[in-house]
Amino acid sequence: MCAVAVGCSSSSPASTSTAVVDDGGLADASSTDAGGVSSGDPGTDDPAASYNTLHIPELLTGTSFNLTLSASTKALKSGAATATYGYNGANFWGPTLVFNKGDDVQISVKNALSEDTTTHWHGFHIPAVMDGGPHQVIAAGATWSPSFKVMNNAGTYWYHPHLHESTQAQLIHGAGGLIIIRDPQESALALPRTYGVDDLPLVLTSRRYLASNQFDTTAVYGDEMLVNGTARPKATLPSQFVRMRILNAETERAYNLGFADGRTFFLIGTDGGLVNTPVALTKKVLYVGERAEILVDLSHDAAGSVVLLKSFNNGLTFGFPGGEPAQSGNFGSQLNNKDFDVLRIEVSAATAGAITSVPATLASNTYWTAADATNARTITITDNGPGTPFKFDGASYDANTVNQNVALNAIEKWTITNNRTFDHSFHIHDVQFAIVSRSGGAVPDDEKGWKDTVRVPLGESVSFVAKFDDFASATNPFMYHCHMSNHEDEGLMGQFLVK
Ligand code: C2O
Ligand code: CU
Repeated sequence: MCAVAVGCSSSSPASTSTAVVDDGGLADASSTDAGGVSSGDPGTDDPAASYNTLHIPELLTGTSFNLTLSASTKALKSGAATATYGYNGANFWGPTLVFNKGDDVQISVKNALSEDTTTHWHGFHIPAVMDGGPHQVIAAGATWSPSFKVMNNAGTYWYHPHLHESTQAQLIHGAGGLIIIRDPQESALALPRTYGVDDLPLVLTSRRYLASNQFDTTAVYGDEMLVNGTARPKATLPSQFVRMRILNAETERAYNLGFADGRTFFLIGTDGGLVNTPVALTKKVLYVGERAEILVDLSHDAAGSVVLLKSFNNGLTFGFPGGEPAQSGNFGSQLNNKDFDVLRIEVSAATAGAITSVPATLASNTYWTAADATNARTITITDNGPGTPFKFDGASYDANTVNQNVALNAIEKWTITNNRTFDHSFHIHDVQFAIVSRSGGAVPDDEKGWKDTVRVPLGESVSFVAKFDDFASATNPFMYHCHMSNHEDEGLMGQFLVK
């Protein structure tokens, strides 16, 4: 029987996958037969079932990767199948790529859609021309072949389309995938890392369906959750410390994650890798584009018991994306302003070699401080009045305008000011930054780690510091934008050159 996705993914032709998983983690996973998270064919969600087995995306390892993005369909509702996009034969989302820090990787991305796309490596410190932003268009039928050295720390990253004005619709169709980076520091720690068994990828999103069962690709909020593309997901997890790599892959909704019984869990990683010491939490807010790695202790949960991961989105202040009260309409949804289930966990017996404690120390990052900055700039979110598109500093994205020029090796403090209407999720390419201040109060402990995406609540200014090193170009810009893809597509994006 198949305990993990790899090798039992009957739905995945994946003929272009060069790298078959052969790492120790997977071997462990198949042999433990923890009854663990089984792959579930992503095409077989049963619309009538109370719960479907959480899909675990296939893993690809090595230094040479082939991705093909194509159109597919998935049975998500009773009646007609839903048109979707997926990479390498998946019918929603795509394989998880595993990179080792220091490796030179070659990737070939074939666009088998009938429309243009791009593939962006979110969070990566790589040359702008390899970045996969709006300028690296992959025409329908074409193949793009970037290569780069993996310089980021071990952590959870992702890839996704970034074609200007098409990002929202392509993401809603399901195009995207996770990237796990490993490095020697992280590998030396006693942390769960058996993918799909005690190291669980969780890609959170929600969808609104048209009467035809098709995704509403203009919807700001979905009415029903999909986790890794699975509706009403359940996962069997062993009675021990389990790691969750959580990505908010929404259009606009933010999550306020926690467990139904209020148990404490531990944040071990932010967008750019491990934090220095674990942060004990009972709730973790995650805005669009952000990642969190957490450890949750299931060792006191008997085999057979049920633990619920939920989002506590009831009663949040105005501006929190998905806190709006309406249950329908443009800015409403059936998940808004309520607490809802994200994942049903069915506990099974502990595995051999279970992790039973949280390491006291995880990393020794030295973060930039405001005093390190050699230059400062301010970016303000504006609009022309309620209901008009958001802009940065009065300007909508223009492919031919460079909005900021940064000197190579500068350490800069960027302050993002949001006085317009609603919270935003600010993301910058090329760098990982340290959040140094929030006008609304102290920077919380769970944001004291390397970040590439940061929530900017209505009425607040947020400052971060980053070093723009290694990659200069007089012609190829990097992007900064709101990661709410509806805002991004309407023009809340700018570009900068490092030179
Ligand atoms: Cu996740 Cu500019 O992107
Ligand atoms: Cu926004």
